[in-house]
Formats: sequence, C-alpha cells, structure tokens
Amino acid sequence: MQRKVTKAVFPVAGLGTRFLPATKSIPKEIMTLVDRPLIQYAIDEARAAGITEFIFVTSRGKSALEDYFDLAPELEAALHSKGKTEMLEMLRDTNMESGAIAHIRQHKALGLGHAVWCARRLIGNEPFAVILTDDVIAAETPCLQQMVEAYEETGGNMVAAMEVAPEKASSYGVLDVAEDLGSLVKVRGMVEKPSAEEAPSNLAVIGRYILTPKVLDNLNNMKAGAGGEIQLTDAIAQEIGGDDGVYGLRFRGQRFDCGSKAGFLQATVAFGLSRPDLSEEFSTYLNELVSSQKAAQ
Ligand code: G1P
Repeated sequence: MQRKVTKAVFPVAGLGTRFLPATKSIPKEIMTLVDRPLIQYAIDEARAAGITEFIFVTSRGKSALEDYFDLAPELEAALHSKGKTEMLEMLRDTNMESGAIAHIRQHKALGLGHAVWCARRLIGNEPFAVILTDDVIAAETPCLQQMVEAYEETGGNMVAAMEVAPEKASSYGVLDVAEDLGSLVKVRGMVEKPSAEEAPSNLAVIGRYILTPKVLDNLNNMKAGAGGEIQLTDAIAQEIGGDDGVYGLRFRGQRFDCGSKAGFLQATVAFGLSRPDLSEEFSTYLNELVSSQKAAQ
C-alpha cells in the first residue's frame, strides 16, 4: 500500500445546532476565528501536509462553503485598483486549483462513519486523511503534517490523540493502549464515547485521521453504534490486529474544541493574541478586563 497521502475528507454536513441562531443561515465551518473561517484553517493544515484533493461531505444549506472557495474576481479587481496588494495576496492564497475540491452530499445525518463512507468512490483504493473542522489545532508543525511524517514510518491507520480528563471521556473516541512508544502508541482497542468508568485510558481521539481504504470496506457493513450513529471509531477499531494496525499520535500543539461555545471563545482569544496586528491592543484590553474584575471582587 502506498504511503503518500494526497486526499482528505472534510465531513461538513453537520447542522451546527450548538451555534444557533448563527447557523440558521451560515454553515458553522464559515464561522470565523478572528478573520478566517474554520474551514480555511483545516484546508491550510491539509495543504501543509501535502494534500492536493479535498473532498467535502456536505448537506443541504451548505452552499456558502462552495462559494467561499470560488474565485472572487470583483473583490480582486477592487483590491487591485486600490493598490491593496497585501490584502489581494491574502485573498489569492485562499484560491484553490480548479477541480481540487469535490462536494459530495450526505443525504441523512447518520453519523461520522457514514459521512466518510459517502466519499468512498472519490477516495478509491488509497490511504486518505480525515479532518474534522471543529478541532482547530495551533502547532508549529501542523498536526496533519506530524501525522503524515509518522505514518511514512508506520503505515497502517493513525489517529491524533490527546490526554483528556476522565469526566470528558464521554465526548470522545478513547484509545486502549497496547504499547506506549512515546509520542506514538499502538492501539489494542477503541471505544466511542465511553463513560468515565468504561474508558480504557485517558487518551482521546482528536479529529485528524489517516486511514486505509479497508476502513471504507468496514463501513459498508457497519451497524449503528454509540448514540445510534454509524461511527468511524468502530470501523477503525476493526483494523486492530489486522495487517495494518492502528496507531495514535500524541501530536505537539494546542487543540481547541470549536464545536463548543467555550472552546470557540478560547480559540478566538488565543488566535487574536497570536496575531501581530492585534496582540498589543487585545492583550492590553484583556489585562485591564482581568484587573477590573479582580478589583470588583
Ligand atoms: C468525533 C468522533 C470522536 C472524536 C471526536 C474528536 O466525535 O466520533 O471519536 O473523539 O470527533 O473531536 P464528535 O465530536 O463528532 O461527536
């Protein structure tokens, strides 16, 4: 099996109900951290890892995502005529090569495993990545790139992994570790959304995957699992003990759960502070805010 990963699946069909009313008319993937939509962070990470084919699994009401990756000739012309070259370059950086993005519909919200399975014909018989746009990861070396580098050594299936508090296990897929090799772990079991008592470890799956096409075969016959949904975790778990196996990579970087309001706000603050054009004004504001709150206590 080849070890070069060139295709990535972005399951973007979710309704985003946690962000209503905003998501009544905009896809949650278009919501912005500072001034870039969540989907842009995911695409940039994929491109940095060498991905050249981007498969969006969408649903009704997501056409703004298609428009976002189209050219914007009127905007470009306006910026050009005003001599705003920096902004023009930033805009052009978001342009995608024609034919690089494919959109596939998931007609029913049957779970993450089902969403990935919807892309099976476009993936074909090669390894592929999956990126969940809710998980935004700030890292010196982008997370998927770290995984691609590790995968070139190991082959098999690989998931991003991170330690979480026991009471949070029920929000994640959780790994049962056979062998701890440092940043890499060899997996002997995976449980989707276990209770704190059932969780086999505190190592949770974060939304980055490199998978073999066998996982798609497994999804062909997959029954509903946790939450009554067809789970990607269950299809990956079937590969444990097979020829390829499953690895977890403790990535280097900070992950923000942008699927929750608190996580989204934390990411907004962190990304705002890391921006050279904003950091001074923003950190002064935050310091003043903290001081005035302390004084009021
Ligand atoms: C999904 C996966 C879960 C994983 C999580 C990471 O869950 O099913 O295994 O740990 O993403 O964010 P979701 O957050 O879609 O419920």
